[in-house]
Amino acid sequence: MCGIVGYIGKQNAFPILIKGLHRLEYRGYDSAGVALISPENQLNIYKAKGRVSKLENSCKSKDVSGHIGIAHTRWATHGEPNHSNAHPHYSQSENLALIHNGIIENYVVLKEKLIQKGYTFQSETDTEVLVQWIEYIKESNKTDTLAAVQLALKQVIGAYAIAVIDKQHPDHIIAARKSSPLVVGIGENEFFIASDASPIIEYTNKVIYVEDEEIVILSQSGQPKIISLSNVEKTPQITQLEMDLQKLEKGGYPHFMLKEIFEQPRTLRDCMRGRINVDCNNLALSGIFNHKEKFLKARRILILACGTSWHAGLIGEYILEEFCRIPVEVEYSSEFRYRNPVLYPDDVVIAISQSGETADTLAAIELAKKAGAFVYGICNVVGSSISRNTHSGSYTHVGPEIGVASTKAFTAQVLVLIMMALAIGKERNSISQKQYEQILSELDLIPEKIKSILKQNQAIEDLSKIFTYAHNFIYMGRGYSYPIAMEGALKLKEISYIHAEGYPAAEMKHGPIALIDNEMPVVVIATHDATYEKTISNMQEIKARNGRILAIVNKSDDNIKKIADYIIEIPQTEECLGPLLSIIPLQLLSYHIAVKKGRDVDMPRNLAKSVTVE
Ligand code: G6P
Repeated sequence: MCGIVGYIGKQNAFPILIKGLHRLEYRGYDSAGVALISPENQLNIYKAKGRVSKLENSCKSKDVSGHIGIAHTRWATHGEPNHSNAHPHYSQSENLALIHNGIIENYVVLKEKLIQKGYTFQSETDTEVLVQWIEYIKESNKTDTLAAVQLALKQVIGAYAIAVIDKQHPDHIIAARKSSPLVVGIGENEFFIASDASPIIEYTNKVIYVEDEEIVILSQSGQPKIISLSNVEKTPQITQLEMDLQKLEKGGYPHFMLKEIFEQPRTLRDCMRGRINVDCNNLALSGIFNHKEKFLKARRILILACGTSWHAGLIGEYILEEFCRIPVEVEYSSEFRYRNPVLYPDDVVIAISQSGETADTLAAIELAKKAGAFVYGICNVVGSSISRNTHSGSYTHVGPEIGVASTKAFTAQVLVLIMMALAIGKERNSISQKQYEQILSELDLIPEKIKSILKQNQAIEDLSKIFTYAHNFIYMGRGYSYPIAMEGALKLKEISYIHAEGYPAAEMKHGPIALIDNEMPVVVIATHDATYEKTISNMQEIKARNGRILAIVNKSDDNIKKIADYIIEIPQTEECLGPLLSIIPLQLLSYHIAVKKGRDVDMPRNLAKSVTVE
């Protein structure tokens, strides 16, 4: 949700900032802008509505000189995506420029005060209010910019990662964070700031994760300085990053999403590496092992997440209850945090988040921690806020996921939950050794089985042509396939903008069946599992009403061939591992339908990859 990037050093800032914005564009792409202090001490701001490439093109004839600058790519919160609402914003005197990721909740009150003092505004944004407020404090208190930022942020309610430059002090960037991510990169006599490490990794692997209510001062000379809002100086903790630059590129695929779908055999192998032994008879998850008494004593497990991660959580519910015999509840973080949930100190909370930055999940974690619950994180982004704010956890280790629609992170989240269920089940003696080893051996085969599904990519692309006409889709499944029906539907709506619903198959007759006619495609996950026969009956009910069925079936399923209009075959596996296979053709189907409809697959309209506002 909005990407911010900044540079100070000896190099020309502009190309570094533009490249950084391209890397951060997955966070928001409504508009983009850059502010540079030129060698002649001009503070130049350039902005464009739309993508970073538009900004880049529009700057071709402009003065983009300068060794210090900040830049922003926006996901609109206050005010429509247009030129004047794009960041950076000037202060009234045009001495300061500011970029912001987050929401200033009390901006209306501050804006009214400023208007009374004669300030005027060019945009509808909360961000412009903040930069004006900083300048107002600076002038009325006759103080420097740093002190003004400190004072202003103390009066602000909301979430922010900001960066400010001041043309009267062209050798500094001042940045700060509260509830929105901010990373500082430390190069040789040059420094970077960004919303995540992806714009930085090309230049340095040394980073500092800025904590809440900390301000960082970067200068042309000297090391970064960190102070708190209340002026206490802190020693910066430098972390070494292990991130592969190649993983941030498309690697020959037309879209990141397709690349990420195809990476899944490898990413799942990476996720198992070092956790499942070569003989497939033992599993070690240190995050569980080091806190095993928490899982042995757990009264209940609560899974908190949003979006696709929430769907992974639903699969987690089935598998944890099956193998650990602990009651599990799965909640949207955004609902959980705003009701008055009953929490016990012997609850275990599992927070799932690809980005590790989702604002609602972070807030839900804080609530659970306050109630004394033990919080376990499943995150992909190493060093992210959620991974740092949980008691223990497991990384999914799939590398950067850039496509806005989550694919490889989802399967790895499900895999981590499967491994957790096996590890906890073993500690609690609620799974037999035979079943434990059987599932571990089968897990080892999953990457190859996914490869065999990916070989059907062309056939799925051909099939996708049939469905581009549709305005609505229903997905249905039972048991472990029910969350997959919801995830399949979510993938389709996110990137093709076709309305799609995922339903438990048996619920169809309680309403959705009224929608069935010969134009309604129904995708059914009908693999050989405990409810296979029941799913067939549900398919018959759809056929009796002329619905068009696309069924995901196990190989050589002649029964379903007779009922379904179209089929995609996937290999057989253990029932609890079925989601790892059945989601793959659904990811491909959504992808190809979206491409055929000419959609912007990696950056679908209105969405953002990392939702750092609530
Ligand atoms: C956004 C993304 C989704 C993601 C959800 C939760 O909506 O577009 O792909 O599932 O946020 O994000 P998280 O990073 O917490 O998994």
